[in-house]
Amino acid sequence: MPDNAAFFRKHAFFALLILAFAGSVGSFLRFGLVYGIPPGWGRLHNIVHAHSHTMFGWTILALMTLIWQRLTAYTGRPLPRGVRWQMVATLIFSLLQLAAFWPNGYGVTRIGSAEMPLGAISAGLAGLTWFWFMALYWRATRGMAQQPPALRLWNWAIVLLFIASMGAMSEPVLLALSIENDFIKHLFLHLFLDLFTTGWLMLATFGVIVAYLENRAPVLNLPSAKRLALFILPTFLLGMSPDLLPSWLFWVASAANLVVAGLVAIYLYRFYLRRDDLPLLVKFGLLGLLVQIGSALLMIIPGVWAWGAGTLRIFYLHDMLLLWTSSALLGLLIARFGNRKSAWQSWTTWLWMGGVGVMWLALLLGGFVRWLPLSGRSLLAIAAWASVFIVLAVFMALRLFTPFDKLPRNKA
Ligand code: HEM
Repeated sequence: MPDNAAFFRKHAFFALLILAFAGSVGSFLRFGLVYGIPPGWGRLHNIVHAHSHTMFGWTILALMTLIWQRLTAYTGRPLPRGVRWQMVATLIFSLLQLAAFWPNGYGVTRIGSAEMPLGAISAGLAGLTWFWFMALYWRATRGMAQQPPALRLWNWAIVLLFIASMGAMSEPVLLALSIENDFIKHLFLHLFLDLFTTGWLMLATFGVIVAYLENRAPVLNLPSAKRLALFILPTFLLGMSPDLLPSWLFWVASAANLVVAGLVAIYLYRFYLRRDDLPLLVKFGLLGLLVQIGSALLMIIPGVWAWGAGTLRIFYLHDMLLLWTSSALLGLLIARFGNRKSAWQSWTTWLWMGGVGVMWLALLLGGFVRWLPLSGRSLLAIAAWASVFIVLAVFMALRLFTPFDKLPRNKA
């Protein structure tokens, strides 16, 4: 059974390795947006697909590692036998997407005499390993009479992951059926992208934070995970292009989004009360959620949603995926499986926070550039140089997880 410390430490390392590769590609793209992609290195939007799909692999592997490691304490049973192979398969197919999407994105690639949609195939295979994870999780937890808060958050996170995966699976189906309808294409794209980000990732990350805190003392009075998940469901519509969404659907999604913002604010407050027990990187990540709460309020002002969807989409995505989720997951992986506190760990943490903070600010200011005494290009250049520090921090963090079989005594 893979319920030993070295197994999880190894997978924490591999999750970070994926972050390091996908982050390097992201940094390459950032420079590409300023100086152009060098000839022969591929097309920007294909490389963006390679970057974003591989990055989802980082978050999902980090979460799987943290969830599997903690689950036995809740269930009192050993992990199902397939976990070891499921983790290896998720790792391989997450990484494969980097190479598969790079040449032609979702288009076809010629290999010898055959033409194959390599990106769609690799994404489909990675998605199948997510279903495998969901099935194993269901087997590991079924029939449990007592459901502690972390488990309830993971249960509902997995429901949302299931629905988001259906959206991801629709891409090859729409391609095969040659469906070109813009509304349907955007609907399924955002069912995947937004439910994965504000649904699965948020609930599952709340779950691993709660599990970490519960190790010391219970976290009291958390809002219901079911209510949070159900209100999150319609909010994916807000990711769609404003000219495709009828206004009544916008108001339904916005109203649900306001309830979500209120519930998230309560979670934030509960975590704030336990701030002394949280790793610095988790506290830093929680700042990203303030943007989610603020934007839910601002969005109902007429015109703000349409403006923000055009100019701040990449900022918002990286607020949720990089500042919030990735910082929190990195902090928890280091706290749970990393080496003892050292100067190296503190350099890594500050380098990450500095890089992410500056890139976050540059992307935000990019939305307001016409009122600023700075050019859009200078802000893009600042974001590009900041990304170098983020990637350097991740490569440095890898050292905190080796050698695999020597877990610091206080964490064994
Ligand atoms: C080292 C940190 C990162 C850098 C330098 C970076 C860079 C970039 C760049 C340059 C783009 C294209 C922007 C554009 O088209 O204007 C992009 C898009 C994207 N990135 Fe990142 N990124 C980073 C971290 C992440 C993380 C951690 C995730 C997810 C966990 C992520 C997910 C995405 C997504 C979903 C898109 C948009 C894809 C689309 O438009 O379809 N990125 N990133």
